[in-house]
Amino acid sequence: MSVDLVVVANRLPVDRVELAGGEPGWRTSPGGLVSALEPVLRENDGVWVGWPGGTDEELEPFETGGLRLIPVAMSEADINGYYEGMSNGTLWPLYHDLVAKPMFHREWWDSYQRVNRRFAAKVAEVAGENATVWVHDYQLQLVPAMLRELRPDLRIGFYLHIPFPPAELFQQLPWRRQILEGLLGADLVGFQLPEAAANFRRLVNHRVGHPTEGEDVILPDGRRVRASAYPISIDFEGYEELAKSPAVEARAKELREALGNPRKVFLGCDRLDYTKGILARLKAFGELMEDGHFDVEDAIFVQVAVPSREAVEEYITLRDELEMMVGRLNGDLGRIGQPAIHYMHSSYPREEMAALYRMADIMVVTPYRDGMNLVAKEYVATRINDDGALVLSEFAGAAEELRQAWLINPYDLNGMKAALLEAHQADDAELKRRMKAMRATVRTHDVAAWAKSFMADLESRQL
Ligand code: G6P
Repeated sequence: MSVDLVVVANRLPVDRVELAGGEPGWRTSPGGLVSALEPVLRENDGVWVGWPGGTDEELEPFETGGLRLIPVAMSEADINGYYEGMSNGTLWPLYHDLVAKPMFHREWWDSYQRVNRRFAAKVAEVAGENATVWVHDYQLQLVPAMLRELRPDLRIGFYLHIPFPPAELFQQLPWRRQILEGLLGADLVGFQLPEAAANFRRLVNHRVGHPTEGEDVILPDGRRVRASAYPISIDFEGYEELAKSPAVEARAKELREALGNPRKVFLGCDRLDYTKGILARLKAFGELMEDGHFDVEDAIFVQVAVPSREAVEEYITLRDELEMMVGRLNGDLGRIGQPAIHYMHSSYPREEMAALYRMADIMVVTPYRDGMNLVAKEYVATRINDDGALVLSEFAGAAEELRQAWLINPYDLNGMKAALLEAHQADDAELKRRMKAMRATVRTHDVAAWAKSFMADLESRQL
C-alpha cells in the first residue's frame, strides 16, 4: 500500500501497557492530537513516525487501534543530548520567554542534528511518491529541510505547538540560522498565534535575508513558504459527551464528597513544568486564606501535577519547591483531615480528568507562557450546565479566544488574588454569561476544524 500521508512527531501516540496475559502491548495515548489526526490518517493511507519511548529498541513498524506506526529508536545518548538537552534544556525555555535559563551546549546541538536526520531518513524511506508529510513541534525543526533534500517530490507541512519567540530572545541561539533554514524546508509553517508567525517571518527576513510578501517568505529559487497561525483545539464533542455520562457525573460527586464537600473547589491540572506558574497560583490562594477571605470549609485547592521530563534538572528542582510549598501551606492553613491543598503527582485517564473538571468550581490556569493550553479548553467543554469559572493567564495562547475568562497576569500576585476572589464570588448569572460564550467558541473551533484547515492550506500550496 502506498503511503500518502506521514505524520512525524517526537513521540508515537501510544503508551506501553501490559496485556491480560502479561504480554507487553500498546494503547493509544489519550491526547487530542491523535484523535484529530486519526481520521485524516485513515483517509490518506497514513502512517505516524515517532519515538516509542525507552532506549535502543529497534522495533518493526506495527499497527494498533487502527493506526500504522513507524518507530524511530533512540539511544541513551540521544535522549540525553537531543531530548533532555537541546529540546528541553535549550529550546523549551528559550521559546517560553526564558522562564528558565536556556543552556547552550554544542554536543546537544550535534545530537539534535543527528536525531533530526534519522527522523528525516525514516520518512524519506516510507513516504510514497508525492506524499504529504506533516512534521510536529520544536524537537524536529530541522526535519523539513533535511527531508526536502532527500525527497524534493514531497509536500511538507510543519506545525509548532509551543510559542515562537520574538527576535530579541531567539537570536541568543547559537544555531538560529540553521533552525530557521530547517523550518524553511516546509511549504507551510503553522503556529498557534499570528504574532508567532510574524516573529518567524521577521527573523527569516533579518537573519536569512529572504523577502516576505504577506504571509509568504520568498526563497531565492522562487519557492514560497507560508507562515500562518492555526490555533489548536480539543475534541469538544468528545469531552462534552464524557462529561454528560452517568459514570463521570457519579465520579465527580464521589470526588467532591471525598474532599469533605467544601463550598467551593479550585482546580489546577498541569504537566509539572516551570512554565505553568503552579507555585504562584498556590501562593495566591494561600494568601487569600491568610488574609481571611476564606477557610478550608469555604474553599480548597486541588492541584494535579503530571510527572514530566523527570531527568531534567529544572524539573527536579521545581518538584521539590512545589512539594515544599504544599507542605508549608497545609501546615499553616489546613486542619486535621482537612488539608487546604490536595496535591496529586500523577497522570489520569480522560474519564477521571472529566470528573475532576466537572467537580471543580474554579479552574485556575496561570502559565507564564503557553503555546495554547488545552486544559483551559477541556474545562470549558465539560461545563455542560454553563457554570464554573475559568481564571486564565493572558500569556496562554488560549486567552486570545477565551476572552470571557478572568484574565490574569501571573507575575502580578495581587491581580491574580483579586481575580481568584472575584471568580470565587461570582453569581450564577455572571458565570453563565461567561461560560456560554466560551463554550460557543470552543465548540465551533475544535481540533477537527484545526486539522482540516491546516491540511487544506497545505494541500493548496503551489509546489
Ligand atoms: C508539550 C509539547 C509536546 C510534548 C508534550 C509532552 O505539549 O508541545 O511536543 O510531547 O509537551 O512532553 P514530553 O517531553 O513528555 O513529550
